Amino acid sequence: MLLLTGGTGFLGGSFYLDAVRNGTAADCLLLIRGTDEAACRARLAKNLSRAMDRTSAEAAAGLCGILPGDLQSLATSTDPRLDAVTHIAHIAADTSFDSRDSVWQINVDGTLALAARARRMPKLQRFLHIGTAFCCGEAPHLEMVHEATPPGPEAPHIAEYTRSKAAAEHALKAAFPELPLVVARPSIVVGHTTLGVRPSASIFWFFRLLDHTGVLPADKDGFIDIVPVDWVSARLHELLRKPDLKHALYHVSAGLGSRTTWDDFAAAFAAEGHDGGTRPYICFDPKGPEGWRPFDAAFKAKFPKRDVLNRTMAVGARKYHRFVNQDIAFDNARLLAEGFAPPPAFKDYLKVCLDSQRATIAEQFVDDAAAFEFDEALTPSTVAA
Ligand SMILES: NC(=O)c1ccc[n+]([C@@H]2O[C@H](COP(=O)([O-])OP(=O)(O)OC[C@H]3O[C@@H](n4cnc5c(N)ncnc54)[C@H](OP(=O)(O)O)[C@@H]3O)[C@@H](O)[C@H]2O)c1
Repeated sequence: MLLLTGGTGFLGGSFYLDAVRNGTAADCLLLIRGTDEAACRARLAKNLSRAMDRTSAEAAAGLCGILPGDLQSLATSTDPRLDAVTHIAHIAADTSFDSRDSVWQINVDGTLALAARARRMPKLQRFLHIGTAFCCGEAPHLEMVHEATPPGPEAPHIAEYTRSKAAAEHALKAAFPELPLVVARPSIVVGHTTLGVRPSASIFWFFRLLDHTGVLPADKDGFIDIVPVDWVSARLHELLRKPDLKHALYHVSAGLGSRTTWDDFAAAFAAEGHDGGTRPYICFDPKGPEGWRPFDAAFKAKFPKRDVLNRTMAVGARKYHRFVNQDIAFDNARLLAEGFAPPPAFKDYLKVCLDSQRATIAEQFVDDAAAFEFDEALTPSTVAA
């Protein structure tokens, strides 16, 4: 029995669909937030319907076992199905970039509650915890980052989210050394190699905005680490099942072979036809004397309306720009040495992403806005045409 958390999310949905396709969905038990089993199944079906038609999504959502509840409820759960669990794929998290308290409650306390229940699972063989490569903190610049213990709580982080993910790894290791723990740290998960951004446009709006404004808060020789969700979820299945892994910690990332240089990024968008903007991109450093002025001016030129939507989108873009400003990628040599398939490069599936959508950048931002806790501010009437 496989216990999966996060099945109603972007990566967890892809992971569950892999199980549907490889015939193991009936062996899955999904922890889903909801009042009862029917409500949870409906939420799962709704998420899957972004990747397939409604009937197929409902059928797929009907195959697995459902455990209604949240992570925090698990520590004391007496549901007997948990005693049969052999593998855990812990994908759930609060991925909000602006939340302070809930990222700690869910990503740390929730993870520890799951671990406390896992300790009492007599058949458990592997606990796959999904971290984030950015738990390394904000310091690295123009580097290929290697797998290492995350820095301590005082290290600089762009978002409390990544700090909480670092803390979760520390806490798991310290409090549950007996668990068969493997940590997988994806880098930046964007789009799907065949479905494009239909399952989620998360972060994709920002890359369109980067191209649209033509200002890049990065080194012109720098790079970024982007991977598609279907490649990541397939690697998670392998990390969960391969019996003889050489390590207990893996980047699930583009690495040296598939990282995206800014030249490649610009060329890939150019090949699909830029929609205006400055070419070549203007590189700037937000920590330099001009600060954010180049971005503010370019943003205002492209999104002149000073409404709630555009203001919040500018704040969201600045946050992502700070990640871009690091110009880093994450070494994936450990993962590839296991014999797993290398990732495709972003430039090779950008066309699929662009062709899969008709939404404006602003509409796609709204789809992602929960990450910035803007949902209440953004009603359909605030969405620019
Ligand atoms: N996306 C990326 O670029 C990226 C990069 C690196 C690492 N990661 C990691 O990958 C994992 C999945 O990310 P994602 O992008 O798929 O996130 P997502 O789309 O926001 O999905 C988050 C999932 O976690 C569930 N969840 C949140 N709080 C919960 C709780 N208290 N109890 C039970 N379930 C809860 C959500 O359930 P509801 O539907 O009920 O909200 C949802 O299913 C996370 O661990 C994240 O840190 C993601």
